[in-house]
Amino acid sequence: MPVADHSHRSLRDLIRLDARRAAITGGAQGIGLAMARRFAEAGAAIALGDLNEALAAQSASDIERDFGVKAIGVPLDVRNAASVTRFGQVVETTLGGIDIWINNAAIYPVRLLVDMSEDEWDLVSDINLRGCFLGAREAARRMVGAAAQTTAVILNVSSVSGFRGRKGSTHYTATKHAVIGLTRSMALELAPHNIRVLAIAPTLVSTPGIIERRATLSPEVAALEESVGTNLPLGRIAVPDDVARAALFCASDMAALMTGSTIFVDSGATAS
Ligand SMILES: NC(=O)c1ccc[n+]([C@@H]2O[C@H](COP(=O)([O-])OP(=O)(O)OC[C@H]3O[C@@H](n4cnc5c(N)ncnc54)[C@H](O)[C@@H]3O)[C@@H](O)[C@H]2O)c1
Repeated sequence: MPVADHSHRSLRDLIRLDARRAAITGGAQGIGLAMARRFAEAGAAIALGDLNEALAAQSASDIERDFGVKAIGVPLDVRNAASVTRFGQVVETTLGGIDIWINNAAIYPVRLLVDMSEDEWDLVSDINLRGCFLGAREAARRMVGAAAQTTAVILNVSSVSGFRGRKGSTHYTATKHAVIGLTRSMALELAPHNIRVLAIAPTLVSTPGIIERRATLSPEVAALEESVGTNLPLGRIAVPDDVARAALFCASDMAALMTGSTIFVDSGATAS
């Protein structure tokens, strides 16, 4: 494997994503969209895959207008292997290849174990874990060989719930723990192909999904969630761009020697 020493390159050059093509699942809104916008600002062409086709198309058109890069919105259901393959095909055909793939789509319903149906368990597992596997496999199949010259990156979105338990989230925490294992094993398999695999673990982030979910919680649990930030060491929860800036670092050559690890963006939540 070639030894790439980046010491001579400027910071400005190392963080740039010019000529890279980034595919982001669940990219129509929230954290996925924030990542897409920072990547576009850094020069990357963008593909947003999402169940919400209309919002993905709108977000892609906003990115083209704001950053002058190519951006497309593509219908995608990460649970479905054929849909994931089609997403990969559309991205490759339209953008000319895939250098960065982010497995970001996930759901996070709240339910106590004793009340949880098999259907809800399966749904969370299918989107958050199977979807991550299908996405990573699709990315790896297209990157192997193509990534010989430049490093390709797969970034999996886990959570602080990938490292600790949380009441009402047995299904979610199980999938986010599993994403860490997936990341580590994939990193080992794909390193010889010059593909880096990383995970990112945010604390609570104020996103459309979280705001929508809050309406389904009991007033006590909703109030508890709203007060989370004040109990965190840095005194606030995250906004999507906090996660996006760390993702940009992971995807860029700034992180050239990093693979298999997880970056926390957690306001200090896991420090104690
Ligand atoms: N928001 C948080 O507090 C938080 C904290 C830690 C980790 N995360 C993780 O960050 C990621 C993004 O979360 P968010 O809060 O931005 O979510 P969000 O609900 O705001 O956005 C998620 C997007 O994924 C799409 N999506 C859902 N199911 C899909 C499917 N089957 N196929 C394709 N797209 C699908 C939705 O349409 C939506 O556009 C998730 O992996 C989540 O687990 C979020």
